[in-house]
Amino acid sequence: MSRRMKITLLGATGRLGSAIGRAILDAPDMELAGAVVRLGSAAAGQDIGAWLGGEPIGRRADVTLEDALGEADVVIDASLPAMTVAAAEYLAERNGTPLVSGVTGFDAEQAARLDAVSRRVPLLTADNFSLGVAIAEALVRHAARLPAEDWDIEIEESHHRMKADAPSGTALMLGRAAAETRGERLEEVASWARHGHTGPRKPGTIGFAVTRGGAIVGEHAVRLVAEMEEIAITHRAFDRAIFARGALAAARWIDNGGQARPAGHYSMQDVVAG
Ligand SMILES: NC(=O)c1ccc[n+]([C@@H]2O[C@H](COP(=O)([O-])OP(=O)(O)OC[C@H]3O[C@@H](n4cnc5c(N)ncnc54)[C@H](OP(=O)(O)O)[C@@H]3O)[C@@H](O)[C@H]2O)c1
Repeated sequence: MSRRMKITLLGATGRLGSAIGRAILDAPDMELAGAVVRLGSAAAGQDIGAWLGGEPIGRRADVTLEDALGEADVVIDASLPAMTVAAAEYLAERNGTPLVSGVTGFDAEQAARLDAVSRRVPLLTADNFSLGVAIAEALVRHAARLPAEDWDIEIEESHHRMKADAPSGTALMLGRAAAETRGERLEEVASWARHGHTGPRKPGTIGFAVTRGGAIVGEHAVRLVAEMEEIAITHRAFDRAIFARGALAAARWIDNGGQARPAGHYSMQDVVAG
């Protein structure tokens, strides 16, 4: 029988984590080898497969990575920043098992610790696991090479009415991709909102516009507008399952058929580059 990749999942009871857990249970080339949940979680000690709404798989959810790691080929993380950093440092000390994390919102200190650990562990972090968004980012990097004096960049995003932050992390990531390509820092060229007598558009800025309503899963458009033409790079998410699918693709990429990638800090750009 062909090899099945063993995955240990962190944050298995969360919205993203449970979607990834179900996708692993459905994937013929993968096996859910362990799961870590918070101490005191109702899932602790329960069979993971049954907890995720499937058949029992004979593996119970643990409260430490030490107990859940077993023979995992890859650890997938959908928990929260402090847990991600602790897990990455543990893996660096222990055996260098690759880590794929979809967690967002690291502060500067946590980001620096992750960068340091990536010298000893293959680490892939993704603010957005969608393969479509990763391709959109690559297209933005390409298009933003057009001269800034002729091409105005505007980023529009729409999400459901419950979303608490704006612009979305993905809109910021796309803005950063455009700004970096132009040799700028997004914070210095961003125009976050417009209201009242704004005067003409300042050359070289990157404008943002945000819509919140109903149940929109997520829409992003990067528009490059010149005097006589426009390029629009648009991504629309119809189903949150794209995040789980992308997380599994990232795990397969970093596992590399059992010959894990060398230590380093990777992104979804590496996954879509092949
Ligand atoms: N990359 C992407 O595509 C993508 C997509 C969606 C979300 N996200 C990000 O993924 C992260 C999780 O989002 P979510 O919406 O799934 O949040 P959530 O529902 O709050 O899930 C977080 C999970 O982590 C668990 N957890 C927290 N601390 C832990 C610890 N110390 N030990 C073990 N488990 C711990 C939580 O357990 P309890 O439930 O017991 O507290 C919960 O199950 C966020 O950073 C979010 O921004 C990324």
